[in-house]
Amino acid sequence: MHYFAVKKGWLWCENVRVVNIAKKTGTPVYIYSHRTLAEHYLKINAAFSGIENLICYSLKANSSIAVISSLAKLGAGADIVSGGELYRALRAGIPARKIVYAGVGKTSEEIEAALKKGVSMFNIESMPEAERINSIAGKLRKKANVAFRVNPDVDPDTHHYITTGKKENKFGINISLAAGLFIRAHKKLKNLNVTGVHIHIGSQITKTGAYVEALKKITVLISKLRASGLSITSLNIGGGLGIIYSNEKPSTPAEFAERVLPVIRPLGVRVIMEPGRFIVGNAGILLAKVTYIKKGENRNFVILDAGMNDLIRPSLYGAFHNIIPAQPAAKGKMKADIVGPICESGDFFGKNRVVPVLKEGQYLAVMSAGAYGFSMASNYNSRRKPAEVLVKDKKFFVVRKRESYEDLTRGECIPGRR
Ligand SMILES: Cc1ncc(COP(=O)(O)O)c(C=O)c1O
Repeated sequence: MHYFAVKKGWLWCENVRVVNIAKKTGTPVYIYSHRTLAEHYLKINAAFSGIENLICYSLKANSSIAVISSLAKLGAGADIVSGGELYRALRAGIPARKIVYAGVGKTSEEIEAALKKGVSMFNIESMPEAERINSIAGKLRKKANVAFRVNPDVDPDTHHYITTGKKENKFGINISLAAGLFIRAHKKLKNLNVTGVHIHIGSQITKTGAYVEALKKITVLISKLRASGLSITSLNIGGGLGIIYSNEKPSTPAEFAERVLPVIRPLGVRVIMEPGRFIVGNAGILLAKVTYIKKGENRNFVILDAGMNDLIRPSLYGAFHNIIPAQPAAKGKMKADIVGPICESGDFFGKNRVVPVLKEGQYLAVMSAGAYGFSMASNYNSRRKPAEVLVKDKKFFVVRKRESYEDLTRGECIPGRR
């Protein structure tokens, strides 16, 4: 579901023609629909309203402060994985008591900052990390609320790069070792309140079965932990809800909740969820312009002014994004690879696509680019990161300016020169 629609050949975001945005900002530009992301958040919230819950938006999907702040105003918490994300979440108005902190490599500096700010909980991924948090909490005379991330060894049937809950993945504590580790931490690490269990089995998951399988294993673990004297009061079920990029048929939040809640409810815990892609994925597009049409011997190339540095998903995962004209195009069709200007053969948005006959200057929209789009953008080839725009009904707001060339060399210096 989203509020992008083509009317008489023009692509609209809510009640704004996207080409009008490009005329102000230039291209490439990310355009987000506020109504889409808000409704997605509210759908998840509604699906879990029958149980005590905290929905922590996963900042890594899209960490623009305008997006985070829109969700903060609706009551969302944040799932963070770095000191930078902590800074962004707080800056955007998410209270520390609604922030959960995950990630396999939190540094001492990051842990200390998060403890001082009073984040709600750390999701711990290893015993050395637990010892580190315990020792820093001790120095600060604080007690840290923690969950251990458990790797339940289930296959969520998604791209192998975004599968995170199988035993060969680096994430979490193998379920067979988890009980021992929880108990050891509870007994020995006196500056930790070990009260939570965390799982996150992967991303772009369209079937709920793997979650149910994982949660059944977690139920057994929680019973064992309680029998050993631990008071487990929260269960974080991670993110991962899939969206429609082409013809996927993901469960809705309501269908998802209907399957998982019967497993969770008897545990009497507070549920934490960390959705990212589901909230922002279909809420954003990358708008670009055709720079050249290059006719090859056996292939045509449509060369855009956006590249893999702006949106890396096709290059990184072979991910599919629908690509459509944002303004009326010619009637005929052509087959082409839609590519960027970067010096890598992997710099493409779509291969062998049948598109209307395109010409230079035509605006094209790469759809469903709101998640893992800008947040994974880089300056490769010394390209400036694109602008970002948030649309609210008939109005649009430039929420990030396109970088300038000065931005590209900020912080650099040449030895001996001032
Ligand atoms: C721990 C954790 N939680 C939540 C998410 C968000 O996942 P998604 O965007 O698929 O909802 C991720 C993504 O990698 C993650 O690693």
